[in-house]
Amino acid sequence: MTSRTVEEYLEVIYELIQEKGYARTVDISSHLKIQPPSVTEMIQRLDEDGFLIYERYRGLTLTKKGEELAKSVCDRHKILAAFLKILGVEERIAEEDACKIEHNINSVTMDRLTRFVEFAQDSPHDPAWLEHFIHYARTGTFKCDDEG
Ligand code: FE2
Repeated sequence: MTSRTVEEYLEVIYELIQEKGYARTVDISSHLKIQPPSVTEMIQRLDEDGFLIYERYRGLTLTKKGEELAKSVCDRHKILAAFLKILGVEERIAEEDACKIEHNINSVTMDRLTRFVEFAQDSPHDPAWLEHFIHYARTGTFKCDDEG
């Protein structure tokens, strides 16, 4: 089981628990598009590795270790999706790609992207160059070209 697989499962389980209060095998299966028997097998391995506690009739709960890793994946996801949307990538693709990038990104790059997203979203003045970039991405021309 790769660390990517562990992260993918924990992310889905964490989101389901946040959303519904519990995570069932069928829901994990439909989110990850993986057959229920494979999901059950994986859940047992995550239990053995201390990421969650699985009780057949009571469902599953994340351990502290599992929840911390799940939260860190979700945080990476949020920042990456926000970054891609700032670049003008449409929501559906930004969400899909965030899930692909979140498992492989260096923490140094992640920290810098986090600062970038905070800057772009919280800057007291809308950054003019960002507006110029969106214009450029759409038209292939620099804003001042049109004005001249
Ligand atoms: Fe994700």
